[in-house]
Amino acid sequence: MSIMPPSQRIWWNEPIHKIEITWVIIALLWCLVLFLWMPYWHVYGKQNLSNESYKTTAELFEAKTQNMVSKYTVRTETDAEIPVVAPPAGSDVYLLGRLWEWWPILELEKGKSYRLHMSSLDYQHGFSLQPVNINLQILPQYETVITLTPSKAGEYGVICNEYCGIGHHQMLGKIIVK
Ligand code: CUA
Repeated sequence: MSIMPPSQRIWWNEPIHKIEITWVIIALLWCLVLFLWMPYWHVYGKQNLSNESYKTTAELFEAKTQNMVSKYTVRTETDAEIPVVAPPAGSDVYLLGRLWEWWPILELEKGKSYRLHMSSLDYQHGFSLQPVNINLQILPQYETVITLTPSKAGEYGVICNEYCGIGHHQMLGKIIVK
């Protein structure tokens, strides 16, 4: 029984069985492999991009996004009239996550670099860009910035990959590259 003191008072000083030490060594080596896999995957996997992050507030981030939307909206899409925004090539662009949408739709130019700012107005959301499989965790109160240079024209889906409540599975967005 574990609540009783051990009968062998020097249980920690007993010789270790060969099998046990073998498994300890295997486990240790595997830990090292997985540890080194993290930086390897960061560089070669290109799934979790290097990002900058800054403190922000929901009000401030919403205002910045709204400012871009007011200036550069070219049309709206779907019944919900989601603005499609085409900001100048090479500028700072904003994408906000909230229950349950990625807003607005961004229209970017192929071969031009943008600084994409993302934040959440409420809870944690996930930015998963499909089909290129880029994944970032987007948190409230933090502005996450990546430099993005779209290399292929087309429509890219943004899906939320952090569970955020009853509408999580419907939390979709879109980035159009022309
Ligand atoms: Cu947002 Cu799940």
